[in-house]
Amino acid sequence: AIFQHSVEGWKINSTLVLEIRALCHGTDIKLLLLLTRIKTETPIKSILRFLDAERDVSVVKSSFKPGDVIHYVLDRRRTLNISQDLHSLLPEVSPMKNRRFKTCAVVGNSGILLDSGCGKEIDTHDFVIRCNLAPVVEFAADVGNKSDFITMNPSVVQRAFGGFRNESDREKFVHRLSMLNDSVLWIPAFMVKGGEKHVEWVNALILKNKLKVRTAYPSLRLIHAVRGYWLTNKVHIKRPSTGLLMYTLATRFCDEIHLYGFWPFPKDLHGKPVKYHYYDDLKYRYFSNASPHRMPLEFKTLYVLHNRGALKLTTGKCV
Ligand code: CTP
Repeated sequence: AIFQHSVEGWKINSTLVLEIRALCHGTDIKLLLLLTRIKTETPIKSILRFLDAERDVSVVKSSFKPGDVIHYVLDRRRTLNISQDLHSLLPEVSPMKNRRFKTCAVVGNSGILLDSGCGKEIDTHDFVIRCNLAPVVEFAADVGNKSDFITMNPSVVQRAFGGFRNESDREKFVHRLSMLNDSVLWIPAFMVKGGEKHVEWVNALILKNKLKVRTAYPSLRLIHAVRGYWLTNKVHIKRPSTGLLMYTLATRFCDEIHLYGFWPFPKDLHGKPVKYHYYDDLKYRYFSNASPHRMPLEFKTLYVLHNRGALKLTTGKCV
């Protein structure tokens, strides 16, 4: 079992953490431009320091006016209108401005979390990042409760909230968001066409119910920055998964990063089946060609970083 890794005796390697944080310079820019297909009109200076968590985590109000038309990041022929609602929900300043944490948890959604008993440990971290509005209450013993930052792909509306067809779906959604209080809700609205209706409905519900949740919408350059960042480390990841995006962002504002719920394999080390998600019956999509992600490759990368002390990957039980 090549991914058998030990958490006992794991120690943070602070020098490496700092090195990773500083890893921005000395890249072959021409190669980077080619590989990331950043349009050549993008000023080269702006990608020299590719990843800036504060700036890339969200666009801000002053970036756009209502009625502006933008191109989808991964679908440049298609456009999106910045609506009045969307504009009113853009943050005035970056939600990560001046925020630094000693320890962070990035919680992925793998079924490996079930029966882990990791809830308490996850909740002890200073900043907890979760993905795709995953439910917590019913799974608190294994996944914890605390959510300071939670992502939501527009497809979640369809997948987990019935496309808002019934009043009860909308109520369930509003209830879930109200539990987040003033945490950050991060919606990748500008990646690909397809979810714009859902994003508008979400925005309207937040405004109508005066929810306190702090909305954020990733910058147009985030995905290029993260891709470029990994490319310089010779990891060829075309479409980083949400979990990897979150880890990469966290390297900028967390001293110690602990990952839970990352296990993109259908079996555990003892051959026992592992659900793709801890909370639903979605199947392993990335084995098909339809999946844009390369989660096993991502996992391998994270596993190497664990062994070098740059992050801590927990895939077993917490004690
Ligand atoms: N993840 C994992 N192993 C799994 C499921 C998820 O490592 N079996 C990690 C991935 O990094 C993933 C993150 O947890 O991005 C959140 O999971 P999920 O909500 O399932 O993400 P997806 O919708 O599958 O993919 P994405 O949002 O990245 O498009």
